[in-house]
Amino acid sequence: MAEGRRTLDSEGFMVLRQLLKPDSVERLHEMVKGDLDSLWPDGLIDCTPSKPDELPAMRIVDLKAMNFGYGKFAYLREPLPSPLNALREALYVALAPVANAQVEMFRAEIYPKQLALESFPERMCDLWERCRAASPAQRLPTSIALRYCPGGFMEAHRDLQGTIMFPFQAMCPLSSPGEDYEGGHFFVQPGKRDVDRQHCQDLFKGDVVIFRSGLYHGLEELTSGTRYAIAMQFALSHLTESPSKPRQTWEQKMAMLQKAAEEDEAGSLAQQGSAFMACEGMSTHAVCQRLRALKVNLRGPLSLPFGKFEILYLDEEIRIIRTGQGWYSVNRRGVFG
Ligand SMILES: [Fe+2]
Repeated sequence: MAEGRRTLDSEGFMVLRQLLKPDSVERLHEMVKGDLDSLWPDGLIDCTPSKPDELPAMRIVDLKAMNFGYGKFAYLREPLPSPLNALREALYVALAPVANAQVEMFRAEIYPKQLALESFPERMCDLWERCRAASPAQRLPTSIALRYCPGGFMEAHRDLQGTIMFPFQAMCPLSSPGEDYEGGHFFVQPGKRDVDRQHCQDLFKGDVVIFRSGLYHGLEELTSGTRYAIAMQFALSHLTESPSKPRQTWEQKMAMLQKAAEEDEAGSLAQQGSAFMACEGMSTHAVCQRLRALKVNLRGPLSLPFGKFEILYLDEEIRIIRTGQGWYSVNRRGVFG
C-alpha cells in the first residue's frame, strides 16, 4: 500500500492487486458482456433520458463516432452492482484525505476548468449532494463499462465534467492480458501528447487502478482478444447530451489551420501583391494545393536556377520562386519590377 501511495504521488496511478474476488469479477464480466453484446454492434444508440435521474440501464457511446478511439462504452445505472458500489465508497473514504492534501495541485492541473470546492467531504454521498446543488446541476451517473476488440483503443483524455470533481478515478479490469487479450496497455500522461507517457504495469482482472483525474489517460491498441473493464468516477456529471459531439481529429485540426493560413496568404497577396509560405517538408502536391488557394492563373512552369533561388513560374503578371531554405515567394508584377 505504501508503495502504491508512492506511485500515486510520483507517477499519478496506484494499482491495488486482486481487490475484487474472482467470483465477483466473473459475475461483473458476465453482466457487462451480456449487456454490451446484446447491443453490439448496432451502432450509436441515443438514450437521452427524459428526466435527468432516469437514465436507462445502458447508454452506449461509440468511440469511433466520436473520433475518440475504437471501441464502445456504456454508462451504468446507479447504484452500481455489488460489490462496486461498496468498493467505490470505501475508496472514496480512503482517498478523500489524500484529495484534500492535494486540492490546490488538482486546481492547478485542471485550470482553466474551475473547481467549485475548497475541500472534499469525508463521504461520497456528501460529494453527490454538492454535485446536485451545483450550477449547472450534476445529477448523471459517470461510471462506465468498456469493451475493446482487436484494433480497439482510446485516445488520451480527461474526464472533467462540471465544477464538482474529484482528483482521483478508479478502473477495474474484467479481462487479463495474455489470457483474454494482447496489447491494450492502460496509460496516464500529464499532457495531450504522449511525451512522458507512463504505462501502468499489466493490469489483471480483480486489480483496481486508482489514477489522478488531472492526468490524461487512455488505452493503447489491442492487438487481439477482447478487453472489458469498468471505470468509476466519484462525482456525478451534468452532461445530458448523448452521444457527445464528435471530437476533431488531429488531421481535421491541421486542415483547419492550413485553410486559415491559405486564406491569410491569399489576403496578403491581394492586398500587398506578395505572399510567403513556409513549405519546408511539404509534398509537391501540398505545395500545389496551397498555390491554387492563392487563386492565381498559372499558365505553365518555368524553372531557372537563380543563385540560391529557383524560379518555378514567371510571366507578365506573377513570379513564384523557391529559396534554398524551402520557402516559396509569390509576387505580382509591379512589386518585383
Ligand atoms: Fe476516462
